[in-house]
Amino acid sequence: MKVAVLGAAGGIGQALALLLKNRLPKGSELALYDIAPVTPGVAADLSHIPTDVSVKGYAGEDASPALKGADVVLISAGVARKPGMDRSDLFNINAGIVRSLIQAVADNCPNALIGLITNPVNTTVAIAAEVLKKAGVYDKRKLFGVTTLDVIRAETFIAEAKGLDVDKVRLNVIGGHSGVTILPLLSQVEGVEFSDEEVAALTHRIQNAGTEVVEAKAGGGSATLSMGQAACRFGLSLIKGLQGEDNVVECAYVEGEGEHSQFFAQPVKLGKDGVEAVLPYGELSDFEVKARDEMLDTLKGDIQLGIEFVQS
Ligand code: NAD
Ligand code: LMR
Repeated sequence: MKVAVLGAAGGIGQALALLLKNRLPKGSELALYDIAPVTPGVAADLSHIPTDVSVKGYAGEDASPALKGADVVLISAGVARKPGMDRSDLFNINAGIVRSLIQAVADNCPNALIGLITNPVNTTVAIAAEVLKKAGVYDKRKLFGVTTLDVIRAETFIAEAKGLDVDKVRLNVIGGHSGVTILPLLSQVEGVEFSDEEVAALTHRIQNAGTEVVEAKAGGGSATLSMGQAACRFGLSLIKGLQGEDNVVECAYVEGEGEHSQFFAQPVKLGKDGVEAVLPYGELSDFEVKARDEMLDTLKGDIQLGIEFVQS
């Protein structure tokens, strides 16, 4: 397996690369790319860790050497929020970065599975799809917005609030990756009852957890370490699917059947070609039905912005 990380010198990129160096299957290749000149040094640093995963670092304008032959590409290149900003405020800079990196993916490894971390995810995934379509290589089974951070936050906060073993808390988080479009399905957590007040408070905390970190970092960026962990979990699941492991399921922001919007985060079964099946997300409570329906205008607007960016 070859895994390429684009944006590898950044806060997420370095945390993710460290975790992948330790956790990728033996014999894998890790290719680190970033415009920052430090990137070969990040690779040299990681290469001293004694695991059977080779690491190479590439800096500069050309992502091609990192991408050639990649099976999985994880993209965290771009700018992060500062206090007072919404994820949508990152669009002006990150849209162009994602467009050019996805073009490089289309040129160098058109069959790779792509996990997009760069915000605003609701929009950057739509940009990526349009670029891949223009290049004639779009396969909706192979493009993912990475929403795993919402899932691990939900698991953590629920376990804390209810005194549960966090390893046993499982739930789907559906919709998108921004504010009200993040919808944790608390009603589906097994063996727990939540009062209406608890549902409102926990949902709000999960939806605003990114802002919680942005404010705590006080201008120093957004979540990097928890995101590195989330991206590693997601990347390893992509690889398990590619290697034919059965029952690999993650929530991700994908193009499914379009029941609610063109892209929607929901559970997917991962296989040798990426998404093997988009799975039903189960019964919703009245609160969740209302929250799902009310998010759709926002989500569709975010998606449309991405489509128009590439088409215009
Ligand atoms: P960072 O500033 O620490 O790192 C970004 C890296 O991208 C830098 O090293 C920079 O040199 C690099 N970069 C910029 N333009 C590039 C290009 N054209 N090609 C290659 N590399 C380029 O930021 P970060 O904290 O790692 O966050 C990165 C992105 O991830 C942000 O957009 C942030 O909002 C997003 N994010 C998403 C989630 C999620 O759940 N999906 C979670 C946290 C952060
Ligand atoms: C997060 O959820 O932590 C990320 O999307 C980063 C951000 O800007 O909140």
